[in-house]
Amino acid sequence: MKLTFSVIKADIGGYVGHSDTHPEVVNTVRSVVEEEVKKGNLIDMDILTCGDDIAIVMTHTHGVDSEIVHGIAWRAFEKGTEVAKKLKLYGAGQDLLTDAFSGNIKGLGPGVAEMEFEERPSEPVIVFFADKTSPSAWNLPLYEMFADPMNTAGLVIDPKMHDGYTFEVLDVYTGKAVKLSTPAELYDLLALIGSVGKYVVKNVYRNYDGEIAATASTQRLSLMAGQYVGKDDPVMIVRAQSGFPAVGEILEPFARPWIVEGWMRGSHNGPLMPVSFEDARPSRFDGPPRVIAAGYQVAEGKLVGPTDLFKDPAFDKARQSAQDMADILRRQGIFEPHRLPAEEMEYTTLPKILKKLEGRFYDLEEQRLDKDQVLEKEDMD
Ligand code: F6R
Ligand code: MG
Ligand code: MG
Repeated sequence: MKLTFSVIKADIGGYVGHSDTHPEVVNTVRSVVEEEVKKGNLIDMDILTCGDDIAIVMTHTHGVDSEIVHGIAWRAFEKGTEVAKKLKLYGAGQDLLTDAFSGNIKGLGPGVAEMEFEERPSEPVIVFFADKTSPSAWNLPLYEMFADPMNTAGLVIDPKMHDGYTFEVLDVYTGKAVKLSTPAELYDLLALIGSVGKYVVKNVYRNYDGEIAATASTQRLSLMAGQYVGKDDPVMIVRAQSGFPAVGEILEPFARPWIVEGWMRGSHNGPLMPVSFEDARPSRFDGPPRVIAAGYQVAEGKLVGPTDLFKDPAFDKARQSAQDMADILRRQGIFEPHRLPAEEMEYTTLPKILKKLEGRFYDLEEQRLDKDQVLEKEDMD
C-alpha cells in the first residue's frame, strides 16, 4: 500500500501577539480533521503547534497534492479562524490569503510538506516544525543529515546510504528547481544552498533506490502575498533508520545551533533553538526562532506517537548556546548583521518607510561644486 504522509501548517491567529496558539482554536482544527478520520477520508491525524503556528499531520492514500486532503486542511483552518476571530486573536486568519479554496492549498498561504512511500516493516518518521524563521532554515541541517559523514556515520558505514543522496533545490524567486547528487556534486549543492535567501531544499532522495528521504515546505508567504504578512514558519518530514540516517543522526545538527533568518518582524538573524513541545513559545524579542521534533512510528498508516525528541537534557547545551548567540546578536540592535541585509528587507514593511525619504536625497558632490563656485566669485569681487 502506498501511504501519503502530509503535513500542512498555518498561522491563523496568535495568542498573545505572535507567541503562541490558543487551545480553543487548536481544538477546533483538531475536531474538523478528526471527523475526516471517522469518515474514512484519512487513516490518521495529529496536531502539532510551534509558536503561533498549527500543523495538521495526516496519513492517507490519496497521494500528494490531493484535493481531498488539502480541502480538509483548508476547512479546518477556516473553522479555526472563525474561533480566532471571535477571540480577536492576533492576526486571525492571516495565512489564509484567499476566501476561496480552489483544489490545492499551495499558493494560498499555508505551508505544505508531503511524501508518498511504501510503508517499511518499521517506519520511523520525524516531523520538524519551526517558528519565527523561513524554509531555508532546513538547508544546513539537511546537508549535515544527508551529505556530511562527520555528522552522519551511516554515509560511510551503511551500504544503502553509501551511494549518497540527491537534493532537489528550489530557487524561490523563479520557481525553478535543480537536482544535485551528493557526494559527487556536493560543492555545487553548497554553492547554492548557502544562499539562504534564494535557495531552499525541497526534497532529498536516496541514490541507492530513489526512495524519498525528506521533504520540506518551501512556500514563501511574502512572495505570495507581495508584502510581509508573517514569516513562512516551515515544516519538514524526515524518514529515519534502515538505510536512512538514524534518529540520532537526524537530530545531531540541532545540537549545535546556527543562525537563521526570521525572529522579530521576520527581519533579523537569530539562532534556531531546539525545544520541547511545551517550550515552543517564542517570547524574547518575539523569539529566538525555535524548532520542535515530533517522532512517530507509522503502523499501517496509523501514527504511533509522537515522542517529543528535543525533550532531552542532551539538548540543554544547545539551548544555552542559542541564548548566548542571541545575546551577542541582540547587542547589534537594528544594525546588520543582526537585522537582515537590504535585499531581504524588500519583503518587509521597511520600503514604506524608505519611500518617504526618497525625494529628500540630493547630490552631495554637486552641492559642493555650487559652493566652490560661490567662493570663487566672492574672491573675484
Ligand atoms: C515574526 C513575527 C513578529 C511580528 C511582530 C510585529 O515573524 O510574526 O515578530 O512581526 O510582532 O507584528 P505587527 O507588525 O503585527 O505588530
Ligand atoms: Mg504570527
Ligand atoms: Mg509563526
